[in-house]
Amino acid sequence: MADPYVHGYHAREHERLHDQAGALVDLLHSDTAYPSGAKVLEAGCGVGAQTVTLAQRSPDARFVAVDVSAESIAEAERRVRDAGRANVEFRQADLFSLPFEAESFDHVFVCFVLEHLSRPVAALETLGKVLRPGGTITVIEGDHGSAYFHPDSAAARAAIECQVELQRRAGGDALIGRRVHPIMTEAGFDAIRVSPRMVYVDSSRPELVDGFTRRTFTAMIEGVRESAVAAGLSDAESFDAGVRDLHRTAEADGVFCYCFFKGVGEKWRSAV
Ligand SMILES: C[S@@+](CC[C@H](N)C(=O)[O-])C[C@H]1O[C@@H](n2cnc3c(N)ncnc32)[C@H](O)[C@@H]1O
Repeated sequence: MADPYVHGYHAREHERLHDQAGALVDLLHSDTAYPSGAKVLEAGCGVGAQTVTLAQRSPDARFVAVDVSAESIAEAERRVRDAGRANVEFRQADLFSLPFEAESFDHVFVCFVLEHLSRPVAALETLGKVLRPGGTITVIEGDHGSAYFHPDSAAARAAIECQVELQRRAGGDALIGRRVHPIMTEAGFDAIRVSPRMVYVDSSRPELVDGFTRRTFTAMIEGVRESAVAAGLSDAESFDAGVRDLHRTAEADGVFCYCFFKGVGEKWRSAV
């Protein structure tokens, strides 16, 4: 059975994923481009927030994007069509039982998915099976332990911790960014290079204040309010104070920092 997905599939979360992708396009995608004719699997494409960028940046590559959620696939298809891209085929599939032949992809791309899985190494091993020898896998994950900000706030840190704990209880790991190299290694990939991608936000970068601090990170924490209170991890008042303090970091004298981790590995050994 698929792992429960802590953020849920509602419209506000879909918007948040697109805000996140929009704010981070250059930071995360600047060094990703696939050659003409390459066949690329995007695993866990969600509502297509990364898919549109991938398809735009590698217009002559052919993408196959899969997600376990039919609703998300439908939304992703619409977004890719609206962006005028015709180089993506969508399939509803669980990445643990992919409907593809072994070694049938030149490259694999997976972003913000492993953090939700109880068996991320097994997921990478499964993805490795459909990758041809010599092909690459790109893994992008965040790490909520990397969030720090000014003004600092114990209440904000406690609200973030609620999200980390909820994700842990759902079988995932919101601190997985720091494990990208170890899990790719354990899954058997070679020539792994992980690069930290730091988001630094102050009021001189208004597009990130809005697109990242408010609409990506703080919106994500706000999104678990009911679950955190229901689980007894916080009371409503304390949680709301934490969210208020996160919004406070988006004011004129505020600063917000966060780090994503992007790993690229190759498949050489047949054991992957
Ligand atoms: C946080 S979203 C990320 C979506 C997209 N990659 C992005 O960066 O915006 C995680 C996605 O992984 C999908 N997912 C979770 N478990 C999966 C599985 N076992 N097989 C396929 N997709 C899965 C969820 O349905 C969800 O759409």
